[in-house]
Amino acid sequence: MKKHWWHKATIYQIYPKSFMDSNGDGIGDLRGIINKLDYLQKLGITAVWLSPVYQSPMDDNGYDISDYEAIAEIFGDMADMEELLDEAQKRGIRIIMDLVVNHTSDEHAWFVEARQNPDSPKRDYYIWRDEPNALVSTFSGSAWEYDEASGQYYLHLFSKKQPDLNWENEELRQKIYDMMNCWIDKGVAGFRMDVIDLIGKIPDQEITGNGPKLHDYLKEMHQASLLNKDLLTVGETWGATPEIAKQYSNPDNQELSMVFQFEHIGLLFKPDSPKWDYAKELDVAALKRIFTKWQTELELGQGWNSLFWNNHDLPRVLSSWGNTGPYREKSAKALAILLHLMRGTPYIYQGEEIGMTNYPFADLSQIEDIESINYAKEALEKGQSMESIMDSIRQIGRDNARTPMQWTDGHQAGFSSAEKTWLPVHPNHEDINVEAALANPDSIFYTYQKLVALRKEEDWLIDGDFELLETADKVFAYQRTTGDKSYLVVVNLSDQAQPFEFEVSSKETIISNTQEVKVLESKTLQAWDAFCIALD
Ligand code: NOJ
Repeated sequence: MKKHWWHKATIYQIYPKSFMDSNGDGIGDLRGIINKLDYLQKLGITAVWLSPVYQSPMDDNGYDISDYEAIAEIFGDMADMEELLDEAQKRGIRIIMDLVVNHTSDEHAWFVEARQNPDSPKRDYYIWRDEPNALVSTFSGSAWEYDEASGQYYLHLFSKKQPDLNWENEELRQKIYDMMNCWIDKGVAGFRMDVIDLIGKIPDQEITGNGPKLHDYLKEMHQASLLNKDLLTVGETWGATPEIAKQYSNPDNQELSMVFQFEHIGLLFKPDSPKWDYAKELDVAALKRIFTKWQTELELGQGWNSLFWNNHDLPRVLSSWGNTGPYREKSAKALAILLHLMRGTPYIYQGEEIGMTNYPFADLSQIEDIESINYAKEALEKGQSMESIMDSIRQIGRDNARTPMQWTDGHQAGFSSAEKTWLPVHPNHEDINVEAALANPDSIFYTYQKLVALRKEEDWLIDGDFELLETADKVFAYQRTTGDKSYLVVVNLSDQAQPFEFEVSSKETIISNTQEVKVLESKTLQAWDAFCIALD
């Protein structure tokens, strides 16, 4: 298999509104990111995935783009963007842009023209019908919005300010590839492709994900923009199975480098229930089954996966599956060790490396996320109590990931000098912050730093086979083997001691959050014990 830089890379996701505010308006910005590049260099990451910074009315925090070739004023301007690319490069950090091309903002010039002038060629860049069908929006309600002036409905699978693009239109596709080429010329190292599995939709048949022409479009995009450029491209593909992931990421297919699949994330929710009906605890058996399936069925050379617990759409992993009390640090390290030693490219979401947690939102007035707000409105109309709605939002809502990054124990956690930040700063910044983490050699930060370094150094992380070991239910243990070398990874995913028996003759510790010698001797894992050892 041909190896690329991203096989050995760990990627760090930045949500720009919440990372660092340099101008005191309570909102993060590009200069703030530039000011924190030394921190990212210390962590050792290879690339940043930058959530959208393009011009946008911010109905969905930048996932509603009104100009793909301009920067949103709240974040700075193109000169700041170029400086970011430059300064990042000096530190060996690449920048991956978010590519949101399933839809634009309704304020994009294309849509403005399409709406004003139904005879314009731009009209066909979007999806118009005389009658709506039953398709619903991810953000609640019908996916069709009536346009009075033209007497037709347009499709929006997300908010009504995010009209879906019509990928059947060849001229539109070409415009998108040209735009991608512009960014590539500026020096970006790749793209994270927002809900890319939706671009092949057939609305009239109510087919949205994995439409029949999806892979044709991606092949065409590859030829037009990606060929021979050694970029990292990662598709957000909620509906991917290992078979589908191979279609996207088998190098012979010339589509994408890798996918984000969400099967393990599905365990946040009760089976076959709406998103807001969350599962009370992690089904560890299912987690083992799902990870094993992806590790073994997406064979080396046939495709590539990414590894993540968190992103800007998900609650903080410690609050869902870790421990936010006495074992916060230990469980954060355990979850990191479990994830980062599998095959795939690991992603760290800002704040994960210091163990940030969900925010204790008191009421709806503190919520900014359009998805949560629309859900609350719809649920209230259906008679659900505000108490249970807020309970779901506190557990699952996207704003949990979006509260400001906690840099210090000082004013607004060192994120901003403003009196009020766009989302409140978590009160636990007094204990959980970057400054404290850097000062403590035993902090979660240094476990992540070590994992990032291992990813660069150790080929077995790429090549090694994966085998799940039979253990107690709450223990996740696997072996990675390549040639005559074998590595054992053991994690106790619980607050209780668990039995663990394994005969080891000699061993070398790779990484650990415990005294693994004691574990092996006593045949007992204490709460959240986790380690990896090389076996002879
Ligand atoms: C997926 C993004 O991650 C999410 O934040 C956004 O709301 C939707 N796509 C729509 O762009």
